[in-house]
Amino acid sequence: MNTAQKINTAVFPVAGLGTRFLPATKAAPKEMLPVVDKPLIQYAVEEAYAAGIRHMVFVTGRSKRAIEDHFDTAYELESELAAAHKSELLALVQSVQPADMICSYVRQHRSLGLGHAVLCAERLVGAEPFAVLLADDLMTGLPGGPGVLSQMVDAFEKMGRSMLAVQEVPLDQVSRYGIVAGEPAGKRLIRLEKMVEKPAPEVAPSRMAVAGRYILTPRVFQEIRNQPTGVGGEIQLTDAISRLLAHEAVYAFEYEGKRYDCGSKEGFLQATVELALVHPQIGDGFRDYLRTLQL
Ligand code: G1P
Repeated sequence: MNTAQKINTAVFPVAGLGTRFLPATKAAPKEMLPVVDKPLIQYAVEEAYAAGIRHMVFVTGRSKRAIEDHFDTAYELESELAAAHKSELLALVQSVQPADMICSYVRQHRSLGLGHAVLCAERLVGAEPFAVLLADDLMTGLPGGPGVLSQMVDAFEKMGRSMLAVQEVPLDQVSRYGIVAGEPAGKRLIRLEKMVEKPAPEVAPSRMAVAGRYILTPRVFQEIRNQPTGVGGEIQLTDAISRLLAHEAVYAFEYEGKRYDCGSKEGFLQATVELALVHPQIGDGFRDYLRTLQL
């Protein structure tokens, strides 16, 4: 029987320092770095909105004010665009914050890890299942197909259990990710038996890596609260999910689509080039330009 609750809330942990992009991120949040013409965080928010989620919770920190401003009304800009009859630009600016979308903000006062960031959102989420999106991972579904979080929400509606987006990665990259192992449990689903944060290749239980999309049941808050610090001295979300396994089934979901690791310079540039190539206004011209490069 389908008893899954609707996913109403998405949590965006955005308090990280973005040290891999210094000096660009000295005064600007890394989540505001643009890929073609939209900041990274907007891609993640749009993915959640397309999955039917209307309450966006940002777990922010100092020097992240630009994110709040981005999802707010920009009075001066909007009235100037209106006065100049630039209606297309005005619509573009206003589309960032659809009328039925609610944004909430909570500060993570200290960098204690991803698990801790998620726990900061507990009061805003309440006792219901919720999504977590890491904006560093820019995810695209297949061309014309549903986004990755939409695919997960569909799977959650059937299973009613926590879901983690996974993809296979080369063995030499397993130490960058949460790695899962388990039993196949239907189309694109693996029932989790084990999850380890950033294992060395020799001890990794598989090559299935968690990408930055999760649907979690509210019990995870209790597990985060009661767990000791983990790898890197941080309160890891991975450890809380491992503990959740003792009480509830958790599934890994092999999504259809692509992930760009925009937390790294290489991934960020790949996203920029590939998204520019499919951009409706500049795609064709950019393709022609790339062809002229003597590589
Ligand atoms: C985090 C998680 C990790 C996950 C990764 C996906 O790591 O801790 O389990 O695989 O995101 O991007 P981070 O990239 O913050 O080090």
